[in-house]
Amino acid sequence: MKQQHGEKKCKLMTIMTTNKTRIAVFCSGGGSNFKALFQAITARQLSAEIVLCVSNRSQCGAMEFAHENNIATFHITEKQFASFDDFAAAMLQELKKNQVNIILLAGYMRKVPDVVVAAFSDKMLNIHPALLPKFGGEGMYGIHVHTAVLAAGETETGATVHFVNEEYDKGALLLQRSVPVLSNDTPETLAARVLECEHALYPDALEKLLTRQK
Ligand code: GAR
Repeated sequence: MKQQHGEKKCKLMTIMTTNKTRIAVFCSGGGSNFKALFQAITARQLSAEIVLCVSNRSQCGAMEFAHENNIATFHITEKQFASFDDFAAAMLQELKKNQVNIILLAGYMRKVPDVVVAAFSDKMLNIHPALLPKFGGEGMYGIHVHTAVLAAGETETGATVHFVNEEYDKGALLLQRSVPVLSNDTPETLAARVLECEHALYPDALEKLLTRQK
């Protein structure tokens, strides 16, 4: 009995002294990358925790997943505010309130306000479904990327995790992995193959970032 009590005390002390990196994941859609990150953090025993899911959509796969897994959610759109500055300030305030250390954009289809980018310089990553700098920039997201890759006759595409700066898809590259383009691919079949690659790439990139910050 005494020993059990001692074990409990020891576990409690471990929890109290663990200083995990606090992550906010920004999503707009299905959230399959969010799910992959969440699962990888547990499976790889990373010293990190997803503490907040931020979304411009109140109902989407990502927000549902957050609710199911007791992760706090924050629904925020520009329309809720009188000005863009108010919107940006509210976003920053929520991140500070949750003591967020790192932001991971995972299918977030909005530009992150510059004040948030500045506050998280070198601490914000995005995943893009192509081999940047190819097929990046404004308007290049989701299925549009894969349609453009096929139209250009590429034989290889892939996924990229990069740091976020004030320009779309222009931040420094952290990790990239290629995926073949098949002759009978449609944008949808190609998207599925790239997405599968993303699910391993994003956790690898997170691990790399966490190691760097130690
Ligand atoms: C992913 O393919 C991601 O790379 C892409 O949106 C998809 C989100 O899927 N992001 C962009 O195109 C950003 N430019 P998910 O919601 O299932 O993770």
